[in-house]
Amino acid sequence: MSKLKNALLRKKSIVDMQNNHQSSLRKELKTFDLTMLGIGAIIGTGIFVLTGTGALTAGPGLIISFIIAALACGFAALCYAEFASMVPASGSAYTYSYATLGELVAFIIGWDLLLEYLLAVSTVSVGWSGYFQSLLAGFGIHLPHALTAAPGATPEGGTYFNLPAFIIVILVTTLISIGVRETKRVNNIMVVVKVAVVLLFIVVAIFYVKPSNWTPFLPFGFSGVFTAAATVFFAFIGFDAIASSAEETVNPSKTLPKGILISLGICTVLYVVVTGIMTGVVPYKNFAPYIDHPVSAVLKIAGQNWISGIIDVGAILGMTTVMIVMLYGQTRITFAMSRDGLVPPIFSKVSKKYNTPFIATWVFGLIAAILGSLIPLDELAELVNIGTLSAFVLVSFSILVLRKTQPDLPRAFRTPLVPLVPILAIGFCLFLIINLNPLTWERFAIWLVVGLALYFLYSRKHSKLNEK
Ligand code: ALA
Repeated sequence: MSKLKNALLRKKSIVDMQNNHQSSLRKELKTFDLTMLGIGAIIGTGIFVLTGTGALTAGPGLIISFIIAALACGFAALCYAEFASMVPASGSAYTYSYATLGELVAFIIGWDLLLEYLLAVSTVSVGWSGYFQSLLAGFGIHLPHALTAAPGATPEGGTYFNLPAFIIVILVTTLISIGVRETKRVNNIMVVVKVAVVLLFIVVAIFYVKPSNWTPFLPFGFSGVFTAAATVFFAFIGFDAIASSAEETVNPSKTLPKGILISLGICTVLYVVVTGIMTGVVPYKNFAPYIDHPVSAVLKIAGQNWISGIIDVGAILGMTTVMIVMLYGQTRITFAMSRDGLVPPIFSKVSKKYNTPFIATWVFGLIAAILGSLIPLDELAELVNIGTLSAFVLVSFSILVLRKTQPDLPRAFRTPLVPLVPILAIGFCLFLIINLNPLTWERFAIWLVVGLALYFLYSRKHSKLNEK
C-alpha cells in the first residue's frame, strides 16, 4: 500500500530540472515572440464567435462576464507565471505539478490539458469555418449545405461534416510539423493583422453606438452574466500555451512571466471595449441570426459592408494563429509526458529533418480535424473550458503547496499576495465550472475515468521515475 502511495506521489526534482536541463529543441523565443505567441493563442473564436451567444445569454452585461473570466485567468496567470519562472522545462502545468504534487496529479493535469489544447484546435476550426463561409457568401459562393457544419449543429438539420473546419486543421498541422521557425514567422504576421482588425472594428463601430442599447444592462440578471462568463472564458484560453514553450525560450525565468502577463492584459482591454461596442451598436436580442460571425455582422448591420469583409478576413487569419499555438502547445506537453515515460515514446520522437515532434503533431492534428468537423461549437468549447479550469485550479493549488514545502527555491517571479491570489484563482475557476452545463461535468467525469485507467494500466509502470 505504501509502495503504491509512494509511486503516486513520486516527484521530479526541480533542482535537477534547473541544473541539468539539456533540450533537443532549439532555443530561439524572446519576450516579444512570447507575447505574440500569447496574443496569437488568445484572440480568436472567443471574441469573434462566442460573443454572439454571450450577448444572447447576458445582454450588454456580457462586459461583466468578460471581466469575471479575465479575473479568473489573471489570478491563475500570476500562479502560472511563478511556476513557469521556477520550472524552465517544456510541458507547462504538467511539468510544474510533476515537481510539486507528484506523478498522479501531474498525469491528471496533462490529461486535462489534452482536453484544453486538442479540443481548442477543433473548437476554433469551427469558428474559423463560420467566418470563412461568411466571406465566401460575400462573393456569392455557398458550399453544399451538408458540408457546412457538424451533425446536429444547426436547428434546420441536414448537416453532416464541417469541411472547411477539417481542411484548415490539416493545413495548420502541415505548417507546425515542418518547424518552429517557420511557424513563428507566420504567427507574428498574422497576430499583427488580427490586432489591427480588432482595432479597426473599434474605431469604425464606435460611431454607431447608441447608448440606449445598453439598457436594460442585465436583461437576464446576474445568472445570465455568470453563464456567459463560463462560456466566454474560452476567449482567454491560450496564455498558458506560452508557458509550455519554456524549452525553446531564451532566459525563460524572466521572459515567460512577462510574456504571459503582457499578452493577457492587452487582450482583456480589447475584449471589454469590443463587447461594449458590439452591444451598443446592435440590440443584444438581434444577434440570434448572426451567432456564426457576430463581430463582422455588427458592421454589416451598420452598413459598413467593406469593413465587415475586412473583419471576416482578419478573423480568419486570427483564428488560424490560435490553432497554430494550441496545436504547438499540445505537441510540446505530450513531448514532455512522453519523455517522462507516461505516454508512449513515439510522442517524444523528434524528426531529424524538421527538428519537430513530427509524428505526434500529425496524430493530434488528425484527431483535432475529425472532432472539429463532427461536433458542434458550443459543446466543444464547454469541454475545453472545464479541462482548462480544472488545470488552473490544480496549478494555483500547487503554488500554495510549494511555498510551504520548498520555500527556498529560487523564483525569478513570485506570485503576489500569497495565499490570497492562489485562493482567488481557485475560487473564481471553481465558480466558472459550476456555471457550466451539467452535461459537460458528466463528460468531463468520463474523461477523467478514462485517464485514470490509462495511468494505472500504462503510465505508472512505464514512468521513468520507476526505473530509478
Ligand atoms: N482564446 C482562444 C480563442 O478564443 C482559444 O479562440
